[in-house]
Amino acid sequence: MKELIDRLYEMEQLSREEWKMLLSHRSEETDQYARSLADEVRQKVYGNDIYVRGLIEFTNYCRNDCYYCGIRRSNKNAQRYRLTEDEILFCCQQGYELGFRTFVLQGGEDSYYTDDKMVGLIHKIKEKYPDCALTLSVGEKSEKTYSAYREAGADRYLLRHETADPAHYGKLHPDSMSCENRKNCLRVLKKLGFQTGAGFMVGSPYQTVDDLVEDFIFLKELNPEMVGIGPFIAHQDTPFREEKSGTLEDTLFYLALLRLMLPQVLLPATTALGTIHPKGRELGVKSGANVVMPNLSPVSVRKKYMLYDGKICTGDEAAECRHCLSRRMEMIGCRIVSDRGDYKSK
Ligand code: 5AD
Ligand code: FES
Repeated sequence: MKELIDRLYEMEQLSREEWKMLLSHRSEETDQYARSLADEVRQKVYGNDIYVRGLIEFTNYCRNDCYYCGIRRSNKNAQRYRLTEDEILFCCQQGYELGFRTFVLQGGEDSYYTDDKMVGLIHKIKEKYPDCALTLSVGEKSEKTYSAYREAGADRYLLRHETADPAHYGKLHPDSMSCENRKNCLRVLKKLGFQTGAGFMVGSPYQTVDDLVEDFIFLKELNPEMVGIGPFIAHQDTPFREEKSGTLEDTLFYLALLRLMLPQVLLPATTALGTIHPKGRELGVKSGANVVMPNLSPVSVRKKYMLYDGKICTGDEAAECRHCLSRRMEMIGCRIVSDRGDYKSK
């Protein structure tokens, strides 16, 4: 399998058959080989700099009912909240003081935030913080809406495709959602000039090697600026409550393959990865990741944005995550930089 990893490193892509081979013949040795090669590629492209994104979870209302997600509409145990515009701006202010130069507004698909409200908010943030990048992560919208966000000044958009295989997609989502629409949203976002992020969950229920092959092929074709992957973790109030989590080893291996396939990609070591292992994010960086996304949400709502059980960083102190992550990154020879952290094109 080492030859296939070398080939991926050289060609930055593999055929469907090669992907299948690589993903179905795993060994400790090839895993380690891919991860250290990916660590080298990360260093070659981004040095020892790690970019931070201040994540503001501004609403946990959601009209969707994804079977895996803790804030799905049918979860009557979720305590719903929305941050006011002032609260969001206060998060940005605190974040700015802590050195963040990217803010990520993430939320459920909440119809309370009409296009007008979102556009107003985007304008305000960009006016106050012209030197910062603004990322949105609010789900599937029409081209008209995406384009209004873009014109208002949003720079980036995160929308994980979750799985590139339509049949697998159908096992994770109700019939009201479709893989085709999701992929189409991503193409529209790219066309509108957003730095666009796609991604999938590792070890989600019913995921097969063939599904993963499709994920890698889809991502190569889409060529997104960002890719977010993290282990699936069950949430107790969802239909997948009994399902087992994705593993550390799988996540690290796929992070490495993503870095080799898309050398410039902005690749976060996610909170979910930090949740399944105490050193998950550090190991993620050592396997090719170059971004971390600490929580900037007010402490009072953090426990309510529970996508999965056991989520870390829902505790007491607002500034803690920023400092904690700085220390963690320094321990592995990296440093968090106060920078927008844009995509470096070749
Ligand atoms: N486990 C892991 N990740 C999850 N997400 C949602 N629910 C879970 C879960 N139970 C991820 C999805 C979504 C992102 C915001 O969080 O991939 O796109
Ligand atoms: Fe949140 Fe360590 S990153 S406490």
